[in-house]
Amino acid sequence: MKALQCIELGGPDKLQVKDIADPVIAAEHVIIDLKAASINFPDVLMIQGLYQFQPPLPFIPGGEAAGIITEIGENVLDFKVGDKVFAASMTGGVAEKLLAHQSMLRAIPDDMDYEIAAALSVTYGTSLYALKQRAKIQPGETLLVLGASGGVGLATIQLGKAMGAKVIAAASTQEKIDICLANGADEAFIYPSGNLSREEQKELSNKVKELTGGLGPNVVYDPVGGSYAEPCLRSIAWEGRYLVIGFAAGADQIPKMPLNLTLLKGCQIVGVFWGAWAGMFPDENKANFNELFELYSSGKIDPTPSDRFSLDDSADAIAHLANRKAKGKVIVTID
Ligand SMILES: NC(=O)c1ccc[n+]([C@@H]2O[C@H](COP(=O)([O-])OP(=O)(O)OC[C@H]3O[C@@H](n4cnc5c(N)ncnc54)[C@H](OP(=O)(O)O)[C@@H]3O)[C@@H](O)[C@H]2O)c1
Repeated sequence: MKALQCIELGGPDKLQVKDIADPVIAAEHVIIDLKAASINFPDVLMIQGLYQFQPPLPFIPGGEAAGIITEIGENVLDFKVGDKVFAASMTGGVAEKLLAHQSMLRAIPDDMDYEIAAALSVTYGTSLYALKQRAKIQPGETLLVLGASGGVGLATIQLGKAMGAKVIAAASTQEKIDICLANGADEAFIYPSGNLSREEQKELSNKVKELTGGLGPNVVYDPVGGSYAEPCLRSIAWEGRYLVIGFAAGADQIPKMPLNLTLLKGCQIVGVFWGAWAGMFPDENKANFNELFELYSSGKIDPTPSDRFSLDDSADAIAHLANRKAKGKVIVTID
C-alpha cells in the first residue's frame, strides 16, 4: 500500500510517500480501506519527536481517518466487513489502509461523509470535552478562543455558540478573523504574530477587557500558549476557567504563570487532555460523540474541511499546519 512515512525525525520535508507492505489482520483489530485522513497539530509535533506520545521509527503520521472495513479479526464483535467507520488511531491515518484496534472505531452516521468523519474526532472531541466536562460552560457566559481559525479553534467557536456562549475569537490575520466570524464568532480581533513584547501583551489584555465590558471572559480556550497566555489570564473574569489545550506557539515557550493571578481572580487553570480522558472514560466519551452527531445532524456544527491534499502531497498538508497557514481543518483525501 501507499503511505506517508516518517523515517527520521525532523520537519515535513523529511517525510516520504512510499510503497510499503499491507497491514496484517490481528484478533482484536480491523483493516480499513481509507478514504480520508485529517491532520492535527500533534502530527507536526510527532514527526519532530516533540509530542508526549512518541511512536518508534518508522511510523505513518495521521491520528484520525475514515473508510470502509475490509477485514476483521476473530474477536471483533461490534463491526463487520463493509461497515463505514472512523478511527482515532494516534498514527497510521495517512495511508491507503489502516490496522485499527476495535476500541478506536466508531460507525459513521448515515448523514455524514468520509471527510467530515475524518475531521470530527480530535478537534470536536477535544473541544466538547474542554467546554462541557472541564469548563462546565453555561449559556450566557463569554468564551475567548485563541488561535481561533485553527482546527480546535473553529470547533470551539461552533460548539461555544451551540452551548449558548458569547464567543470572542482571536487570530493573527484578517483572513483568519473573517473565517472565525463566518463560523459564528460574535466578535473577533487580530493579535500580533510571534513573541509578544510587554507592550503588546498589555494591549492584548486591554483588548479582551474592552470587548467584555471590563468584566473579562468567563472561559479562555488556549491552544497557543507562548506569550499569549499570561495577558489572557490577566484579563479573565472572576471565577473564570482558563483551559490549557496546547502550545502551538512552541514547545520551548510553555508559559509559566504567576499563581497570585488565580488568587486575585478566584479563577482556575484547567488542564485538558482529551485522548487520556477518552481512554479512561470510554462511556462518557461515547456519550459526547452521540451529542456531536446530533449537533451535526441539526446543523449546529459544521466540520467541513477547508484545505485538501492528495496522499502524494500529504507532507505538504503537515507543512501547511506547521507554517501557520491552515485556516480550518486540513484533510488528506485517499483514492
Ligand atoms: N489537549 C488536547 O487534548 C488537545 C487535542 C488536540 C489538539 N491539541 C493541541 O491544540 C493545539 C492546536 O492544534 P490544532 O490541530 O488546532 O492546530 P492548528 O490548526 O495548526 O491551529 C493552531 C493555531 O495556533 C496558532 N499559532 C500560534 N503560533 C503558532 C505557531 N508558531 N505555529 C503554528 N500555529 C501557531 C495559529 O493561529 P494564529 O496564526 O491565528 O495565531 C493556528 O491557527 C496544538 O498544540 C495541539 O497539540 C490539544
